[in-house]
Formats: sequence, C-alpha cells, structure tokens
Amino acid sequence: MVAEWATVRVKAPAKINLALQVLGVRPDGYHELRTVFQSIALADTLTFRAEPGPFRIACDDAACPTDATNLVWRAAARVWTAAGRRGAPRDVSVKIVKRIPVQAGLGGGSADGVAALRALAVLWRVNLTTRRVRRIAATLGADVPFFLDGGTAIGVGRGDVLMAQPDRPRASVVIVIPRFGVSTREAFGWWDEDASLATLPDQRDKPHRVDDRCGGVNDLEAPVAARHPAIARLVRALRRRGARQAAMSGSGSAVFGLFDRRTDADQVARRLAARGWRVLVTSTVNRSGYARLARPTCLRGPRDLPMKEGIV
Ligand code: C5P
Repeated sequence: MVAEWATVRVKAPAKINLALQVLGVRPDGYHELRTVFQSIALADTLTFRAEPGPFRIACDDAACPTDATNLVWRAAARVWTAAGRRGAPRDVSVKIVKRIPVQAGLGGGSADGVAALRALAVLWRVNLTTRRVRRIAATLGADVPFFLDGGTAIGVGRGDVLMAQPDRPRASVVIVIPRFGVSTREAFGWWDEDASLATLPDQRDKPHRVDDRCGGVNDLEAPVAARHPAIARLVRALRRRGARQAAMSGSGSAVFGLFDRRTDADQVARRLAARGWRVLVTSTVNRSGYARLARPTCLRGPRDLPMKEGIV
C-alpha cells in the first residue's frame, strides 16, 4: 500500500490578511471574524520520504516545533487513520525547509499542515473526498481550510467558512519581520483585555461585510501594537514610503505593504533592511497560481503513483 521508496515534495505558500475584523467572542471561546485572506508566493518546502522507522520531522528553523504539536504531525495522524491504519503514523520522515517565519501571522504552520495532507494522501495512496479533507482541515486550525484553495477569499466564522473572491491584480508585497513573534492565542487575549477595558469601540456594531471598503483594517493591530509599538511604526513607515496598503498580517508580528511595482517594493525593502529590519519581498498569488504552486511532485517512486488521486 505504501510506495516504500517514494519521495513526495510539496510547497506550502503563506498568506497575508488584507483585512481582519473581530466582531466578538463566540460561545466556544473563539472570536467571530470577517477577514480577507490573500495567498503570497513566500513558501516553505516539505519533503516526505517513505522510510522505515518512527514518524519524524526535521526543520532548518529552530523556532519550528518538530514534535506532535506541529500541524504536519497532526495532519499525518489524520491521514494515517483515514488510510485505515491503527496507532501512530510511522515510516515517513519529513524535512521542512522553513521560509515562512513562525509566529508572524503568515499562516506558516497551517500551510504546512495542508501540504502534509496533500503529500501523505499521495504517499499513502489514500483517496480522500473533498468533504473529508475539508473536515480534517477545519479540525487542525481556524485558518487551515483557507490553504486548501488559496488565492483571495473572505473568511467568516472562526475564519474557516470561506467565500472565494475574484482574482485581484498581482501586487508586490514587502514583509517586515520583527524579532519578536506573537502567538495567535496571545493576540486574541490582548484584544479581549482591551475590549473589556472599553478602550476599543464596540466591535459588534461593525458592519457584517468585509470587502474592499475596509481594506487595510486589522482589529488585532491596535492591541498587538499597544504591547509592541514597533508594529505601528512599521505600518506608518510602509505607508510613508508609498505602500498603497499596509497593515499587520493576522495576529502578527509580521507587517506587510502592497506595491504595484516590484522595483518600488525592492527599493523600500532595501531601505528598511539598511535600518536593521528583517525584510522579505514576495508577490500575491491568485487561485490558479496557488493550485500550481501547491501541487505535490513525486521525486522517486513507482510510475503508477496516483498523482491525480487524493486531494491534489
Ligand atoms: O484555530 P487555531 O488553533 O489556529 O487558533 C489558535 C488560537 O487563536 C485559539 O486557541 C484561540 O485562542 C485564538 N483564535 C480565536 N478566534 C479565532 C481564531 C483563533 O480566538 N477565530
């Protein structure tokens, strides 16, 4: 059943949030969101190799967990069960080349989780229905389902109920990565604290629509910037230097600026890097571009490896 000598490689592209409204706290403790997700070309590369032994993950970024808390591990456990196998997953080693900074609000862990679902469905020859994959993705994390299709999508509920949006013109994206990270849980906790102190307007009065009119709004930005003032300074710096939109991504700590021209993005990135900031330049990716980027490739294995099956 397992192609024992097979190796499957897959890219896991990141996201930014073009807008993010927090509408309130739900009975399940999560926050009700209206957000606009946008895929970007910045991606991790994951290589899954079938070889005897316990399931293991290696990563070139020490900040990335390699134990069962990694979404790759949790995704593997779900595909293993779906393949009708018992116990913990085994006989696969995973190598993650991490290019998406961790705790940055760029969805790196979630993107890797979906990459694992795709790659292991191929490696273990599991034909997962789209419905089952969606169900698994939603249990892995609130923003994980977005990474099944990528592109531009509005996310409501916990961020997991998605409405695909028409492609937008490609933009160059400058991403500044502060030296501190922010955990998603922490950022929402700060939003709770500040909302209870009534230092924020009542979020529930906000319109229940997210579209171009609220582009650039991120309701998590103020509570995070209140604890990390560098965030607000970076957003201002990107706007001053010509970004047509600048904001913190998701729960931070990364801040992005959108530029129509790559040359402008490169110039702004060089200036910020010269001042000591860690900066990346990438571009937005539409839905079809995402499908091409995120498709697994089989490096070694039997010719009949069913690349068209599963969720690829
Ligand atoms: O779903 P995920 O595990 O990625 O979420 C991490 C944490 O972020 C949750 O435990 C919760 O504290 C917070 N969160 C939230 N509301 C959301 C998404 C995440 O409160 N819509």
